Amino acid sequence: MSERAKSGDPWAKIEGHELVPLGDLFVAEPDRLSRLSLDIAGIHFEWSKTHLDAALIDAFDNLAEAQDLAGARNELFAGTIANVSEGRAATHVAERGQGDPAHVAQAAGRHQRMRSLIDAIEGGAFGEVHSVLHIGIGGSALGPELLLDSLGRNLGGYGVSVLSNIDGQAFDDAVDPLDPETALIVAVSKTFTTSETLLNLESALKWLKDAGIDDPYGRVIAITANPDEALRFGIDETRILPFDEGVGGRYSLWSAVGFSAALALGWQAFEELLEGAAEMDRHFRLAPPAANAPILAAFADLLYRQKLGCQSRAVFAYDERLRLLSSYLQQLEMESNGKSVSENGKPLGRPSAPVTWGGVGTDAQHAVFQLLHQGSDTIPVEFIAVTEHEDGQDPAHHRALLLNAFAQGAALMAGEQSDDPYRACPGNRPSATILLDRLDPRTLGALIAFYEHRVFANAVLLGIDPFDQFGVELGKRLARQLGEPESRDGFDASTRALIERAGL
Ligand code: F6P
Repeated sequence: MSERAKSGDPWAKIEGHELVPLGDLFVAEPDRLSRLSLDIAGIHFEWSKTHLDAALIDAFDNLAEAQDLAGARNELFAGTIANVSEGRAATHVAERGQGDPAHVAQAAGRHQRMRSLIDAIEGGAFGEVHSVLHIGIGGSALGPELLLDSLGRNLGGYGVSVLSNIDGQAFDDAVDPLDPETALIVAVSKTFTTSETLLNLESALKWLKDAGIDDPYGRVIAITANPDEALRFGIDETRILPFDEGVGGRYSLWSAVGFSAALALGWQAFEELLEGAAEMDRHFRLAPPAANAPILAAFADLLYRQKLGCQSRAVFAYDERLRLLSSYLQQLEMESNGKSVSENGKPLGRPSAPVTWGGVGTDAQHAVFQLLHQGSDTIPVEFIAVTEHEDGQDPAHHRALLLNAFAQGAALMAGEQSDDPYRACPGNRPSATILLDRLDPRTLGALIAFYEHRVFANAVLLGIDPFDQFGVELGKRLARQLGEPESRDGFDASTRALIERAGL
């Protein structure tokens, strides 16, 4: 027994465990399919094609106890300090009506304001409104955009253009389909200090003014956790929708940040989204670890990252409507758990989050799957598909789509033996499958909440604070400094030469 095992290090059992090849696991554990398949909120989670076996799940269970995952989860829902480095609660679950009653009541009041403003828009208070220019970046754009893109085909009433990038081309592309006479601007920024968002907002105001709109500011709705800053910018108080400081940007689509989506998809859809997330919240809060979808998924994540050293995790949506899911997850997972220190500020001493990447099936099969099947690295793969096919679409397409998703998982696991080394596929490559009964606001809400809780479980098991993002600040600060010629001297020769070359 190693020193660490003797001292009761919960990782020792995990690290010392010999992995059984996937194919053999199905023989050794005849019940694994049922044990590793969970049905929650209209979603089937299937983790049987991972190397998690009963002994490993026990070992991770010990880790969860040692890290007091249950206690951390209670704190999250109780609204106490979950974001240790910034000394505040993480209150996104309250937006779904879960947890601490005071936060829940506050969130409900803000949702009420949001709804009243939507009613006012629909009642003509802003004149004729046909479209929305949603301005925001990172968590202030990715979530609403995912909702709109996933559900908008069936539910969309207003056309929404989402503008995030500071690139002038992005601005032109976003306003191009809009008529300034009938467009409303929804500016979303938790801090209301983000340079990209403020510059895009200024350009949007100019765009309205140039089109002859008398009161461009009157067409702007600001969504922020820093209302004073929005007021200073010139937005009238009646058009500022606040949200709680404890709602992190990448966890914020449930709050007023989801305004454009709630307006375009309808209030009922927004409520159903919250209800679906709440159902996942209850599951995460109450189910024992071995039957808890976010926790089980986190166990597998840690197995591959910590024990096998897998540096990335790939997510493929086999549904065009979920094409933005992997971008959304990149921010959620990498900004939350891409940290090298623990929540106590000590070196982590082990790898943190892997790189999340992905795309859409079947396109990705013809681009990147070669490496997944035969490359030198093991990359855990996640397939997300929807069982029900869309009304009005040829079912043959949907059938082929799903068959392809399932075939890829089977191929990764079984591989193919061949005397020809070029053709041999090693197999024993892990995948997980998430199958939504249908894609509607409720199941999408539950799916996103599943990912949030999985990120949280990963963070607690590693000892990370998933709710801060100090690393992003450095680049922002240096971009500001570079903008001032007198502050450039301290920069390296390469950066100074690039500035000179670009004539900035
Ligand atoms: O990229 C860093 C970040 O702070 C994200 O966490 C956040 O979602 C984004 O910038 C936008 O910030 P804000 O909502 O304050 O404009």
